[in-house]
Amino acid sequence: MSQTSKPCPDQDKQKKINKKTISQWIEERLPVFSMIQREYIRFPMPRNLNIWWTFGAVLTVVLVLMLATGIFLAMSYTPSAEGAFASIEMIERRVPSGWLLRSLHMAGSNLFLAFLYLHIFRGLYYGSYKNPRELVWFSGLFLMLMVMMTAFAGYILPWGQMSYWAANVVIQAISSIPWIGEGLAHWLMGGSSPNDLTLHRYFVLHFVMAFLIIGVVFIHVVCLHFVKSNNPKGIEPKTKEETLPFYPYYVAKDAVVIVVSLLLLILLAFLFPDLLTNSENYTPANPLETPANIAPEWYFLPFYGILQLIPFKFLGLVLSAGSLLILFAVPWLDRSSIKSATYRPLYRLSLFILLIAFVILGIVGKYHTHGGLIWLGRLALLYYYLHFLMILPFSHRFELKRTLPVSLLDDDKGAKS
Ligand code: HEM
Repeated sequence: MSQTSKPCPDQDKQKKINKKTISQWIEERLPVFSMIQREYIRFPMPRNLNIWWTFGAVLTVVLVLMLATGIFLAMSYTPSAEGAFASIEMIERRVPSGWLLRSLHMAGSNLFLAFLYLHIFRGLYYGSYKNPRELVWFSGLFLMLMVMMTAFAGYILPWGQMSYWAANVVIQAISSIPWIGEGLAHWLMGGSSPNDLTLHRYFVLHFVMAFLIIGVVFIHVVCLHFVKSNNPKGIEPKTKEETLPFYPYYVAKDAVVIVVSLLLLILLAFLFPDLLTNSENYTPANPLETPANIAPEWYFLPFYGILQLIPFKFLGLVLSAGSLLILFAVPWLDRSSIKSATYRPLYRLSLFILLIAFVILGIVGKYHTHGGLIWLGRLALLYYYLHFLMILPFSHRFELKRTLPVSLLDDDKGAKS
């Protein structure tokens, strides 16, 4: 009869000692365990964070998913004008689970951009760009530009009709830059119209950028951990009671939102894989046939709308790029000493009108608006810039003064003084 051998207490003790010494050995050379303890377990977070503070974690998880699915897609993709479209068809039909990988990658990109916009809006609403978090804001904006470049490059890769003509729109926009435009477009694209070289360059850009984004996310989070998180009240916690450790409180909260977001992703990928794609892109690229309605993905529509509203191409390009670049100046444009829009009614109202203006610009981009709606679009564009150049710097002068709470433990909503 076989006897079940019980580990003797001495063996147990020895194992513990070995384990302890291994972690100690690593810790003495690279203090990773104490770093994890300090930065992700005991890390003090303001105790009043709401759901808007979970989107950074969701972005990180979706980014990892995008990289994982992207690497597998790249294994079967052919980056040439001849073979790209056919290789996408092969991934969809013949590569085992290829349809799933592509579906997750495409739905993931939409979800990623949606959460990115929400994350930026949170920053604008709660004044998270203000002193001392300017570097968190700037690193975030670099991420935004990199993500947009990556998403655009990715859209070109299937080499369908929309891919080809979207690349063409960009060539034309760059060509409109006085003096250097033509040469620059030719140099960037490897020709005067999208071609094999263009596709190859976009593929390299898409692949490399994805990994660079991971590096910049790391810098973004390091910057944030140095100055710590802002919160809905926009006042800094002063006592230990005003904070909660990251683990378990915010780990649990982030986990719930991550699971719900992944469910949304699965819903999109399995049930509505074509909801957000343009059917025109299932036709191979044809340089001789311009599609009736060239429109980019939804997340670029407002910027494309601006291009269409302005009859002078170069001015359109400046205003379209400027609508993004102006975000870099926000920490200086905002002169109010109050961070959170909760205590700034005028600014809050303006932010909501800005949101409506952004949607109108998107509608213009989607439907190539004519007549009266063009003027509504121009009004929206005017308001967009007015918000940043007039309301942000001057609204605090006209705003009703509100008394800020003294502590995060106060539950007032900004009593009028
Ligand atoms: C790849 C994209 C991005 C990732 C993975 C990412 C990740 C994160 C994470 C994990 C946090 C901490 C949790 C949270 O506050 O939600 C955070 C905070 C922050 N992010 Fe991002 N982020 C990204 C893009 C951006 C962009 C585009 C901006 C703004 C332009 C931005 C601005 C900020 C700011 C200001 C904070 C601090 C917020 C506060 O404490 O109030 N991030 N980000």
